[in-house]
Amino acid sequence: MASDLARITVTIPEDLLAQLDELTARRGLAPNRSEAIRDLIREQVVEESVGDKDVEVVGSVTMVYDHHIPGLTQRLDEIQHEHLDAVISKMHVHLDHGLCLETIAVRGPSGQVHSLADQLLGVKGVEHGKLVCVAAAGSGGHHHHHS
Ligand code: NI
Repeated sequence: MASDLARITVTIPEDLLAQLDELTARRGLAPNRSEAIRDLIREQVVEESVGDKDVEVVGSVTMVYDHHIPGLTQRLDEIQHEHLDAVISKMHVHLDHGLCLETIAVRGPSGQVHSLADQLLGVKGVEHGKLVCVAAAGSGGHHHHHS
């Protein structure tokens, strides 16, 4: 898949650049920054891809939020009730006075599971959210993460 190369100029804080170099070294990625950045972009683009919307997937949505934010927990509940068939189970951990960690097990067509995750992670006040899902048994080896 050789494609034409485009040259862009990116402005990046020095500390973030230092973190990129650390990550590159830790992961044994290409020492060339352009290649390292291309790798990270590819990784993210693949993660974000829904793939075949109809493929059955199973996975989990993990998120951290402050339950004090008005309307937040109610909104998260509403979204889950709207996707009743995709929500299997849930674990809720009270992390401290305000923060909650929630992991929701999900199953269903890839399109629906991603839509559910996008809605949950898009609620204002939800931090550090991530969907991890894999194809359900019997439907092939498709596998990806999604943040
Ligand atoms: Ni809690």
